Amino acid sequence: MQIHTTIDSMRRARQAAGRCAFVPTMGNLHAGHIALMRQAASHADAVIASIFVNRLQFGPSEDFDKYPRTLQADCEMLEAAGVAHLFAPDEAVMYPSRQNYHVEPDPAQATALEGAHRAGHFRGVATVVLKLLNIVQPDVALFGKKDYQQLMVLRNMVSQMALPVDIVAGETVRAEDGLALSSRNRYLSDAERAEAVRLSRCLNRIRDAVRAGNHDFDALERAAMSELATHDWHPDYIAVRRQLDLQAPAAPDDALVVLGAARLGSTRLIDNLEI
Ligand code: PAJ
Repeated sequence: MQIHTTIDSMRRARQAAGRCAFVPTMGNLHAGHIALMRQAASHADAVIASIFVNRLQFGPSEDFDKYPRTLQADCEMLEAAGVAHLFAPDEAVMYPSRQNYHVEPDPAQATALEGAHRAGHFRGVATVVLKLLNIVQPDVALFGKKDYQQLMVLRNMVSQMALPVDIVAGETVRAEDGLALSSRNRYLSDAERAEAVRLSRCLNRIRDAVRAGNHDFDALERAAMSELATHDWHPDYIAVRRQLDLQAPAAPDDALVVLGAARLGSTRLIDNLEI
């Protein structure tokens, strides 16, 4: 695997690489990221990954400084997954001067759910992903459904800006007990890790209830929030939404997704399930 730390080097390698599939990450890789790399390989001649912890998408009281940085171990995992190129710029390369131009996502999609609890988050995500796509110029880019709203915002950015890249979604990879894999899981104490599975269990229960015909979404959401609160979580939201645009369900045949975010101790976890 070739490691590129400058835009020039990345671009030159990309030009020689044929059809490319790109998987942007913030590192501290786990099996969820690696599944995306392997899926990427089925779409292209060469897989390009990036690792960049993007300051723009972290709020002032979020975990930018303590976000786990594990480049050595990440490189070994990428190498083993057959990734051809890694773009791993530092901040001086990505943001040589203050980034004053931003992508402003549609507020209807970026200010609900995660956006309501992380002001400016999707603006930071969309801005860095546009920049990464301009640097790497892949044919295909892959994003996980784990970050469902992020996937939707990025799909819409690509579509509205007519960016010449196909977006492909990857399924959420989970630990054996059902907890969605996340770099933030490593912040959990042993006791919190045992408790953490409750979030996915709550989402599963809502999915089963909705599939069985219960459409009292408010009651289902409230019951899950109060179960989490009873077990010392601080839930931000549990919400049944349309897959299409993450708005409230309207028609009976809307394809639905249930999304949740909650803090356990000092760790904020998110998850979702398509219904
Ligand atoms: P990061 O959290 O590192 O995630 C990188 C990619 O891996 C994202 O597309 C995310 O949805 C996917 N992913 C994370 N956990 C997953 C899991 N358990 N199963 C499947 N896929 C999973 O998301 C970001 O980084 C950043 O916001 C980024 C897009 C790189 C922009 O900075």
